[in-house]
Amino acid sequence: MHWYENDGLWSGFAEFMFSPRRAAEAAENVAFSPLLAFPAGSRVLDLCCGPGLYLVPLARQGYQVTGVDLSAAMLERAKEACAAAGASAGLVEADMAEFARPAAFDVVINMYTSFGYFSDPEKNLQVLRNAHASLAPGGRLLIDVLGKEVLARRVGRPQVVDLPGATVLLRDTVLDDFTRLRTDWTLIRDGRSHSASLTSYVYSAAELRAMFEQAGFTGVECFGDFDGRVYDPRARRLIVRGVRE
Ligand SMILES: C[S@@+](CC[C@H](N)C(=O)[O-])C[C@H]1O[C@@H](n2cnc3c(N)ncnc32)[C@H](O)[C@@H]1O
Repeated sequence: MHWYENDGLWSGFAEFMFSPRRAAEAAENVAFSPLLAFPAGSRVLDLCCGPGLYLVPLARQGYQVTGVDLSAAMLERAKEACAAAGASAGLVEADMAEFARPAAFDVVINMYTSFGYFSDPEKNLQVLRNAHASLAPGGRLLIDVLGKEVLARRVGRPQVVDLPGATVLLRDTVLDDFTRLRTDWTLIRDGRSHSASLTSYVYSAAELRAMFEQAGFTGVECFGDFDGRVYDPRARRLIVRGVRE
């Protein structure tokens, strides 16, 4: 089994990864980010939608949303979140390396470092090719990751995050000349621990831009946060956007 197929990582660390604070941040990004403002009624595909942190506010904004995720447990959470919010979304259990629906969407998003998961670089490129095929002409792909330049500022320092009734420890290890990163996660609750590990590619802005172009995207731009700032030393995220002509 590949690490990303292990739902013990996604569900086991959900209270950290998909916390109320993150849900509020996603809703705020949808409400205010110029990068997430699409023409009314746009068909939006959220690739690797997880429990629907972006699906819900996007649907409430009036977009026609579809979420794709490999984890049945994550999709169940997304379904419940949509129902609770009175939001409607199509939900599809599929692998991002395989999912493509020709010209069916105006926007494809992939949020919160959900890209670069495959050890075969060709498969990561295939995800971009699939997104390209799934977009109608003029449509846009937007990917939000932790860029290599941003990561370089903080990597090597273990993190301790306190949650209500639990603590999460995170340790990053740079691999293969800063090509990939392993993150070891441990959750401690009531004196018992649960661990999981994630290994993914990390991209500089130039590397991810080149991949977008290789997959056929034009007008590729890089941003440093959801406010649309340039990607410079103050960047908090790496957000890359490209157009399918
Ligand atoms: C870091 S979470 C991000 C979820 C969501 N984008 C968010 O902003 O909260 C990554 C998600 O990717 C999903 N995932 C992992 N590998 C996948 C794959 N090969 N195809 C589709 N989804 C995948 C996981 O199940 C998980 O829900």
